Amino acid sequence: MSRQSQNQIRAVISGTGADLPEKVLTNSDLEQMVDTESDWIVQRTGIAERRIAEQDTSTSDLAANAARRALKSAQIDPLDIELIVVCTATPDMSFPSTACVVQMKIGAKNAHAFDLSAACSGFVYGLDLADGMIKSGRYKTILVIGAETFSRIVNWTDRSTCILFGDGAGAAIVQASTEDRGIIASYCGADGAYADTELLAVPAGGSTLPVTAENVKKQLHKITMKGREVFKLGVRIMPEAALHTLQMAGLTVEDIDLVIPHQANLRIIEAVGERIGVPSEKLYINVDRYGNTSAATVIIALDEALRSKRVNSGDLVLLVTFGAGLTWGASIIRM
Ligand code: ACO
Repeated sequence: MSRQSQNQIRAVISGTGADLPEKVLTNSDLEQMVDTESDWIVQRTGIAERRIAEQDTSTSDLAANAARRALKSAQIDPLDIELIVVCTATPDMSFPSTACVVQMKIGAKNAHAFDLSAACSGFVYGLDLADGMIKSGRYKTILVIGAETFSRIVNWTDRSTCILFGDGAGAAIVQASTEDRGIIASYCGADGAYADTELLAVPAGGSTLPVTAENVKKQLHKITMKGREVFKLGVRIMPEAALHTLQMAGLTVEDIDLVIPHQANLRIIEAVGERIGVPSEKLYINVDRYGNTSAATVIIALDEALRSKRVNSGDLVLLVTFGAGLTWGASIIRM
């Protein structure tokens, strides 16, 4: 691997944090809500339980808690933050942005703030953006958050989707550094040909289908998904994104200490691992405990891996995601 030249600016993750609601929704609980069986859910998805936010908890609450923990782990003051990017598909409201609400909640008065919409790829898109902004020399400290309350947009009468998702948030402080670590390679892609309301979408609530009594009655303000097609796309796109990013970095999969794929479904994760040739011990999995928290999955997992010392300083981590849009992305980070 080629090492960086002296004084080159790198975007380093100097602290992480996460927040998962306390309330647990188990597969047995779901058996009481829809026509399903716990064993079916475990076999098809690997999910045993997920967290659900209390009614008075918004995406910005989870995001702000995760941000406070990230600030503590990076040992920096909120006033040092220059930019807040909240990656989410479940903002508090259409506008103002959830990022502005988070700015107020954590007292980051010097930061400007906006939301980023890339569905489940959100955090990797946010990290890619932060990497570019820091390398441009304009920013030194950026807060990137992946935060979701998918329980609010799940159709709780649709057994094929309501079993999959959970609520949660993760945050990373990304800082400029001349140390030989940080984001080594980053890649994002999209294909709007799949921006089809039937594949994976929340069709109503925007300008195409505004909120009307009729649209709400038809549950168009909730998630709709063609699961099998999304599954096939995920197992094709994530390996491609991972291998492309390894190539960009001049690395092979053997160089990577831990792969953190988007936590949508255990079978997708295992298929991705197989296709890129990662042994199972190098594949991070927590989908069994949290389900799919969309833009938050990879940063919640990275925070857990750091806190449990599964990832240590100097290790190489590969994040890889895909989501509605379609969107996809991967990032290789030396911690
Ligand atoms: N319990 C019991 N049976 C069920 C359930 C359930 N919860 N859900 C569906 N079934 C039934 C179906 O009705 C179908 O029955 P039928 O054969 O009588 O018609 C049968 O199970 C098989 O259905 P499939 O949809 O073919 O099942 P599959 O093995 O594909 O699993 C699943 C479905 C779990 C949704 C899978 O397709 C999947 O995980 N897809 C990817 C989803 C995903 O990752 N989404 C997130 C993308 S990221 C983002 O941006 C949000």
